[in-house]
Amino acid sequence: MLKKRRKAGLLAFIIILSFLEGCGTEEEPEQEYPKSLKIGISVYDQYDTFMAEVLYQLQSYVREKEKEWGIPVTLDIQDAGQDQLQQNKQMEDFIEEGCDLVCINMVDRTDASSVIEKAKSNDIPVIFYNRELVKEDLQRWEKLYYVGADALQSGELQGQILVEQCKKDFSSIDKNGDGVLQYIMLEGEAGHNDSMIRSMSVIKEITDSGYVVEKLADEIANWNRDQAANKMASFIEDYGDRIEVVLANNDDMALGAVDALKDSGIIPGTKSWPMILGIDGTDVGRKAVEKGEFLGTVLNDARGQARGMIELAWSIVSDTPLDSETELQEGKYIRLPYQKVTGENLSEIQKRERQMALP
Ligand code: BGC
Repeated sequence: MLKKRRKAGLLAFIIILSFLEGCGTEEEPEQEYPKSLKIGISVYDQYDTFMAEVLYQLQSYVREKEKEWGIPVTLDIQDAGQDQLQQNKQMEDFIEEGCDLVCINMVDRTDASSVIEKAKSNDIPVIFYNRELVKEDLQRWEKLYYVGADALQSGELQGQILVEQCKKDFSSIDKNGDGVLQYIMLEGEAGHNDSMIRSMSVIKEITDSGYVVEKLADEIANWNRDQAANKMASFIEDYGDRIEVVLANNDDMALGAVDALKDSGIIPGTKSWPMILGIDGTDVGRKAVEKGEFLGTVLNDARGQARGMIELAWSIVSDTPLDSETELQEGKYIRLPYQKVTGENLSEIQKRERQMALP
């Protein structure tokens, strides 16, 4: 009996104790959020049309988020001018200035050691963007991330646009009627992930769909409109009306092809005008679709990538989970999907892009 009473007393004591403990933890300390955010941003070349759109979107998204977070956000944007040594120096400056995090668009994606070492020794997280590092480099430290898009998908979608047109009206593309698609490939940059994968996957998509292709020529034009126009001018001299399709790794180079064709007197919309396809869906690229100069392009989501970078930066610096719309793959990668842009869905895409643009 006595034992039972003692047991009951002990139980009551334990219950009271745990109740008191519970009272103690009821008021958990509030999470401390950063009072400001400073992000260093380096771009490989500020004159690259697509990168300029990404930078514009970064600034516009940050302005929206400042209001929501109620803190000032500073973006220190630096142009590396296609010089890796200059970019390494910018990394040092970002550290000296006390940036909370840096976003780097590598000049040479195979030469990230200096940036990674500096980041690691100063404990500054890095979000690499658009120019994807090799996996081994990204795994060298847990605070290294990548935001970009899936290069394979962009080539596949570019191929699909051509295949859809072939199914509709093959004879208007196959000008010489030999049943083979004679094409020119304008490639971005030697060693650039997007460039290599797009060039390979677009051809695979077309041939997997049962069409036979013949490469007339293939040249690197460094994502650049003028360089592409020069290359295209000499292809027109060499191959003339044999060119049935121009596949460009981006819109600027596809526009270079348009320039060269027009200069040589070929008029858009006539039988001699080849099918031209770009990638990026930049403002100028979409205009070329509208005018019928491009058969189509593939939207590279600049706004989505900017959004991913800023949301990820906030999640890292404030130590809070990422918003539900953003998926972090393998704890390191955010990849935005691409979308086809053709005459058929152009107005819908234009409308959406206009709504997202700031006044
Ligand atoms: C874009 C190109 C751009 C390049 C720069 C690619 O993803 O499609 O337009 O020039 O990135 O790295």
